Amino acid sequence: MLDVPKQRPELRTRDFIQPSNQSHILMAQFPYSRRRFLGAGASLAASAFTGPNLLLRGQNAAGKRLNLVQIGANGKGQSDTQAVTLNHNIIAMVDVDTKRLEEAAKKREKHHSESNAPAPNVPKLYQDFRKMFDEMSNEIDGVIVSTPDHTHYLAAMWALKHKKHICVQKPLCNYIGEVRDLHKTATEAGVVTNMGNQGRTYEGQRMAKEWIEQGVIGTLKEIRLWTNRPIWPQGPITKKIVECPTNLDWDLWMSSEPMEPYFEFDLPDGKKNKRSNSLHPFAWRGWWQFGSGALGDMGCHIMDSTFSILGQLIPEKIDVTSGPINDKNAPMWSHLVYHMPAGQHQAMTVSWHDGMKDGVPNKPERPPFMDSELAIKAFDKATSGMAFIGTEGTIFEGEAYCQSPVVWPEDRYTQTRIDMKAGKIKQTEPRLPKELQGNPQLHWATCITDGGKPMSNFDYSCPLTEFVLLGNLAIRSQESISWDRDNMKVTNVPAANQFITRPSYREGWKPA
Ligand SMILES: NC(=O)c1ccc[n+]([C@@H]2O[C@H](COP(=O)([O-])OP(=O)(O)OC[C@H]3O[C@@H](n4cnc5c(N)ncnc54)[C@H](O)[C@@H]3O)[C@@H](O)[C@H]2O)c1
Repeated sequence: MLDVPKQRPELRTRDFIQPSNQSHILMAQFPYSRRRFLGAGASLAASAFTGPNLLLRGQNAAGKRLNLVQIGANGKGQSDTQAVTLNHNIIAMVDVDTKRLEEAAKKREKHHSESNAPAPNVPKLYQDFRKMFDEMSNEIDGVIVSTPDHTHYLAAMWALKHKKHICVQKPLCNYIGEVRDLHKTATEAGVVTNMGNQGRTYEGQRMAKEWIEQGVIGTLKEIRLWTNRPIWPQGPITKKIVECPTNLDWDLWMSSEPMEPYFEFDLPDGKKNKRSNSLHPFAWRGWWQFGSGALGDMGCHIMDSTFSILGQLIPEKIDVTSGPINDKNAPMWSHLVYHMPAGQHQAMTVSWHDGMKDGVPNKPERPPFMDSELAIKAFDKATSGMAFIGTEGTIFEGEAYCQSPVVWPEDRYTQTRIDMKAGKIKQTEPRLPKELQGNPQLHWATCITDGGKPMSNFDYSCPLTEFVLLGNLAIRSQESISWDRDNMKVTNVPAANQFITRPSYREGWKPA
């Protein structure tokens, strides 16, 4: 987020969030029960744990507590559980690592006690989500999937097989073929879907779109996106076979991937990675089999507003340069240029920079209109960010979610703020109520009970995930690629097509 000094209060975006004369109209598009958010104590005391609701599309369900399941209970799964547990029942938690599973269950209890909420129901704990579905399917309303990327598709498909509403972490899958299949299956199942990209729940992304459409920066002509990721080992990595920790079921962790002995790895400089020197936890991200590199990890956040602002178009061509890769690992840095066709806006390039190159952050050039001391400081500080460059100004966001965008130069931002207050800049994009901003899991659950469509439902988030993963086709083939969306095919580099679908699935993992 932009570091705004105290003496310049006029630069604070939150001062003019939701002008009161318009916000009620737009919020009304997202029906929800306000009593659900009145405070955990009040709402929980009034509702004992209910039996299974078995709801589809929220019929007769307003205000009910859903029976939800958390697959991938620790790591991000922990905060995804916390996002809903005060309002809904978590009836099962699934994690392949028993130690992390128990820890996650305890943390959930702690969250209730720290929130002054009644103690939660006791969930059943499982290591294998297939067994959980076999035993508990009848009791479940919805499933949250927060496992490593390679198991999103599998867990979500098992949930859909049982006709459960699903909320899946980003990126929805790490292969485009799986994204397409997931979208089709979820549509046929008619369930409520959402992706866990919190940026889409915030107001900032919508303001940026409105500003651009209403001429705040003149004509939009270029977009620059960047991140300091990877902050985990990538680049060509050497495996070292070691004993598997007893708390981890490695076979289940690998899931549909071909089985191989448990291994660790060292960083090229021999140092230990801060979080993990094995795939589990967290450091699976740099492996094409299990993750999707820096682009796949951050793209569904950082490319989200771009995808929305440009009208969800697909690039005509993507150019690539990157650090070394092999057939297993993503590079330590990459630079992509998405060539976007004209649509609502003129044809333009969207560039993506990630990682460290030659020992320094691989960032784009500082955007035009950011020449003041304050602007330079904001740009230099932004480890991830985005810049929408127009003929008369730049909309800049110094973090991944486009939560608090600002306009440069300063006087243009001051005028923007005045125009918003005066209603000259209109709210044309829907907003979520404050209680749901930053919480895609609760937003999803609320849509199940009270109706409405989550903002990152699969009709939006599947094409967004595909937009992101297209860049990986260019990185993996090391060639400029052109994409035929209708036929799901790279037209100019036949070799790139091998990266569209997962090579194989071990038996027993893909639901029939
Ligand atoms: N929206 C966000 O801001 C955000 C932030 C972080 C991570 N994520 C996403 O969340 C997902 C998880 O990331 P993480 O950093 O928590 O990873 P992690 O490896 O730290 O944690 C994943 C958890 O899932 C468990 N797990 C692994 N395979 C499983 C399986 N087959 N069944 C059940 N449990 C399994 C692991 O034991 C672990 O506890 C990723 O897709 C990541 O992109 C999203």
